[in-house]
Amino acid sequence: MCGIVGYVGHRDAYPIILEGLKRLEYRGYDSAGIAMFDGTNLKVSKTKGKVLDLENKSTQENNINGTIGIGHTRWATHGVPNDVNSHPHYSNSGDLVIIHNGIIENYESLKKELLKRGYTFNSDTDTEVLINLIEDVKKNEGVKLGKAVQIALNQVVGAYAIAVFDKNKPDEIVVARLGSPLAIGIGEDEFFIASDASPFLEYTKNAIYLEDEEMAIVRRHKDVKIRKIKDDSLVDLYIQELQINLEQIEKGGYDHFMLKEIYEQPNAIKDTYRGRLLVNEAIIKMAGVEDNMKKFLNADRIIVVACGTSWHAGLVSEYIFEDLARIPVEVEYASEFRYRNPIITEKDVVIAISQSGETADTLAAIKLAKSKGAFVFGVCNVVGSSIARETDAGAYTHAGPEIGVASTKAFTTQITVLTLIALRLARAKGTISSSDFRRHLLELEMIPGKVEEALKSDSHIKMIADIYKDAKNFLYLGRGYNFPVALEGALKLKEISYIHAEGYPAAEMKHGPIALIDEQMPVVVIATKKGHYDKVVSNIQEIKSRKGKIIGIVTQGDKSVKDLADYVIEVPETLESLTPLLTTIPLQLLSYHIAVMLDKNVDQPRNLAKSVTVE
Ligand code: F6R
Repeated sequence: MCGIVGYVGHRDAYPIILEGLKRLEYRGYDSAGIAMFDGTNLKVSKTKGKVLDLENKSTQENNINGTIGIGHTRWATHGVPNDVNSHPHYSNSGDLVIIHNGIIENYESLKKELLKRGYTFNSDTDTEVLINLIEDVKKNEGVKLGKAVQIALNQVVGAYAIAVFDKNKPDEIVVARLGSPLAIGIGEDEFFIASDASPFLEYTKNAIYLEDEEMAIVRRHKDVKIRKIKDDSLVDLYIQELQINLEQIEKGGYDHFMLKEIYEQPNAIKDTYRGRLLVNEAIIKMAGVEDNMKKFLNADRIIVVACGTSWHAGLVSEYIFEDLARIPVEVEYASEFRYRNPIITEKDVVIAISQSGETADTLAAIKLAKSKGAFVFGVCNVVGSSIARETDAGAYTHAGPEIGVASTKAFTTQITVLTLIALRLARAKGTISSSDFRRHLLELEMIPGKVEEALKSDSHIKMIADIYKDAKNFLYLGRGYNFPVALEGALKLKEISYIHAEGYPAAEMKHGPIALIDEQMPVVVIATKKGHYDKVVSNIQEIKSRKGKIIGIVTQGDKSVKDLADYVIEVPETLESLTPLLTTIPLQLLSYHIAVMLDKNVDQPRNLAKSVTVE
């Protein structure tokens, strides 16, 4: 993970890099650092902690200025988070500095060689090995920095997005990528480098996204050239116009990004179906599906690969695809799938779901599926991300930037896209009647309004959060379409409040988890009117007889659960297949309020990062 930023041009680089790091903090936030050349000296400031700590430290200790610099916000892989292990790292001569996002897997053998040649190391990081390898190549081969980086990278096994500069040539930054994202913003006589485009949105809308195994040298007053790391061949430049704006990546008056993103869901879902869901014409239009309709229709099965919350969206889609389109679905953790020697054939369609589009395990699963001849379809949020580019076709969720580490609007928009695909395929296969199809379209179109309605329970949910915030454990139960929602509710709570929570299919409770229930255990039960309602009510009774505390997520106007539960939270009625889009909302708000009341860092929970680009 980690976020990297760089600048070379005519402006003061310090504020650009610092602000850029703040925007990339979602990628890692256990330490941060900056290196700048001020015309005479190379100044480096780095610290354990957040970018704010770096800001305090760097302004106190160093009068940092200059028009070239690089910065880093870290999610530790090699070496604990401390000042020494923070990036940037220097070479032994003190001339070269580097920032790195990724892992150099063969760093130990490289380090052994460098130690033999007299190099010394201050940190425990793989990155310090890489910068000394570059220095060693530069010296021994008598080549310029760009060439030295290239030769060194050809000896490296692993993943990286790097930016390197030499204090003796303070007009250029060398960048390269393999497996970790790297965008280059192109201004007038200036270049910006970053893990995504957010750090340079106010300066330029033109960006190049490096592909894997590519490198570039960005120089003042020069055009950028991109080369293949392996064979040095030149690559055609593809400059993209950025579609996101600054407003989308700011908090907009909310206390936290997570809360803002929860409240953005009505619009995000609308943006997801806009132009695709055409109710009046009773059609669904999705180019990625239309163009590959034969592949979908001839598929023996769909295999969904994803991680975390995206995997939960995949689980919801299993119900939707099987129920509506009658296509068998298997939902796989990408991290397991990639190492399992799975049986994949050319008649499989693999759907890869990822908000960031950068998750290393999902990317590896895609590559495996492609190598076996499967058609791979991506459902991503981040436009131009690695997964979006690696898949054969796909559909974006159009949720807008999701900054809070806990995924919220990504989940509901992923479900929206997957529902659209399932409905389109159901229509093409004739597994849904035209009246049922139209009913689904109408209901889906009404979902944003109903999400708004569900959000109105916010203060009621806050009151419930206050009552249960000190519980040590939570259980989340749901059935059918809402079983994955129970898993997602439990994940939301544990990742931001650090309270242990487990999600279960409600009927599984009697096979074990029921032993956990006592008067201390809050149990959140999703018990909407459609979908095994009576059975879930029986489960609630079982909990009640064991003195568990029940928080029911119910359909508006429900009476039976209200009589049994300690508290209920109502959501509007909709079709069973669409209930996850509504039942998720109170669970997001419940975990949000509990985490805030416990004074946790909601947007940047400990040990996590938004984009998991390591295994
Ligand atoms: C949880 C969360 C993670 C991600 C997971 C996959 O709130 O955000 O579980 O869902 O790391 O990330 P993407 O969707 O970017 O592949």
